[in-house]
Amino acid sequence: MCGIVGYVGKEKALPRILSGLKFLEYRGYDSAGVAYVKENKIKIVKEAGRISALEASLNKEENTYLGIGHTRWATHGVPNKINSHPHKSGKFTVVHNGIIENYMELKDMLIEKGIEFKTDTDTEVIPALLNYNYEQEKDIIKVINKTIKMLKGSFALGIICDDDLDSIYATRYDSPLIIAHQKNGYFIASDVPAILNYTNKYLLLDNLEIAKINVNNLIVFNSNLQKINKEELTFVGTSDDAMLNGYEHYMLKEIHEEAKVFKDTFNYYVLENQFKETMPNLKDYHDIHIVACGSAYYVGYIAKYLIEKYASIPVLVEVASEYRYKKNFYTKDTLVIIISQSGETADSLAALRQVKEDGIDTMAIVNVVESSIAREAKYTLYVKAGPEIAVATTKAFLAQTTLLALLTVKLSKNNELLKEFKGIDKNIEELLSRDYLKYAKEIYNHNDAFFIGRNIDYALCLEGSLKLKETSYINAVSFQAGELKHGTISLISENTPVIAINTLDSIRNKTISNIKEVKARGANVLYITNENVRDNFYNNIILIPKVADIVSPILTVIPLQLIAYEVAKLRNCDIDKPRNLAKSVTVE
Ligand code: M6R
Repeated sequence: MCGIVGYVGKEKALPRILSGLKFLEYRGYDSAGVAYVKENKIKIVKEAGRISALEASLNKEENTYLGIGHTRWATHGVPNKINSHPHKSGKFTVVHNGIIENYMELKDMLIEKGIEFKTDTDTEVIPALLNYNYEQEKDIIKVINKTIKMLKGSFALGIICDDDLDSIYATRYDSPLIIAHQKNGYFIASDVPAILNYTNKYLLLDNLEIAKINVNNLIVFNSNLQKINKEELTFVGTSDDAMLNGYEHYMLKEIHEEAKVFKDTFNYYVLENQFKETMPNLKDYHDIHIVACGSAYYVGYIAKYLIEKYASIPVLVEVASEYRYKKNFYTKDTLVIIISQSGETADSLAALRQVKEDGIDTMAIVNVVESSIAREAKYTLYVKAGPEIAVATTKAFLAQTTLLALLTVKLSKNNELLKEFKGIDKNIEELLSRDYLKYAKEIYNHNDAFFIGRNIDYALCLEGSLKLKETSYINAVSFQAGELKHGTISLISENTPVIAINTLDSIRNKTISNIKEVKARGANVLYITNENVRDNFYNNIILIPKVADIVSPILTVIPLQLIAYEVAKLRNCDIDKPRNLAKSVTVE
């Protein structure tokens, strides 16, 4: 949700800021802007639309060596030029990621003092409040410290003050912000990919810390305004990991990385059919709650079926935004698992904090290293997906499914199951090498599509239909196959696309009966299975390799992802940046 990049140094600032913003465009892409210092004055340029629109309005070679930039995902106020960041009030110019929940209250207070507002944003209250506090006390660090303690909500901020045009100030609360040093200057950024063209070393600001950065110096203060030293972190990877490398879209590139992602995740936890110490030894839990959002929630659904089947531990799966506002029942032996690619999803983070307050053990399954969820959980298990840029998650989903399957083995105490993971990378490669366009052609010109399956296949239906919805805007809905006859089968008419998933021997024939029911009512059935039957109840079939149930979902999801990709392409959709979405949802 919104991306921030700032630069101060000896090199020209605008090319660095624009290059960083392009890497962060997946965080929000409805408007963009920069503020930079030129001849001792602040200049602000903003545009509605993509970063390319901003780039077209700027002279990148401008002699400016300090600036802050922003790419926006609108929360308060439509995505037009005036509402886009940076916002300036009096002497303070600000870019903001997050939401200020008490902005109305603060705005009313400032209006009463005679301060005028120009935009519909929550953000504008920040420079206005900074400026108001600065009129009382002319110490920028103290003023920032005082101001951020008056804000409720989440924020990462890049700040410039007219009285110190040599410095960028940065601070955060519950929205990520990093600082990176390169030999000729410093960057601030919302996420590591923004700086990878220049360096892979960075430090992470903690909540309410404040940084003052100029060409030669970085000083970080804690919330008591004591100077502190921060640990330098190294990102394992290069800017290539965040680039298209010849692929037409990030979504396609990331799907094609899945065999590697599977191997990297497996090898990080397992050596010669034994768990390494990267997989923690866990006590015997009585029950497990899995809490997540979107696709990560569907991984939780897959995990529920696996853990209940193989480890005989009851699992409750909940969407984080619901879980945090309901009464939850724990025993002293409940484990709560939070799954999140970004590790910054606001609802998942809030749920984690609430569970911790209740004194319950927590485990994070996260992709982004050192993200908030990763840092706050009792146990943190990383998936090895690498940077995921496309808004629709694919390789992180596969990595999370792999890790949850490994965790299932750990919980089941039956290491023999690890043998089932052998050769899965080869199966992934083979599935990736197939052509899915012909199946997409049967779907792309419909407004609705249905996914049906039972048990773990239903969890995969949920993910398959979300991929189709978010990338191609087709109303794709999932149903438990056995439930159709209780009402939803009325939606089926001549040629309605139905994607039926059927991979489990134990219920194979039951699902076949349900598929026959929709076929008899005219559905155009794409049958995804691992065992062919000679019977005429489908129009097309995708035969996936037959492997043990514990690893089967890792394979089944691949055709679903590639079909969604091909459909979105046939419909000319903006595949990597679907409308209205952003990658990392750091607001409630
Ligand atoms: O970063 P997270 O895994 O916590 O994100 C959760 C969801 O926002 C995310 O999976 C979302 O549903 C994706 N757009 C799905 O492709």
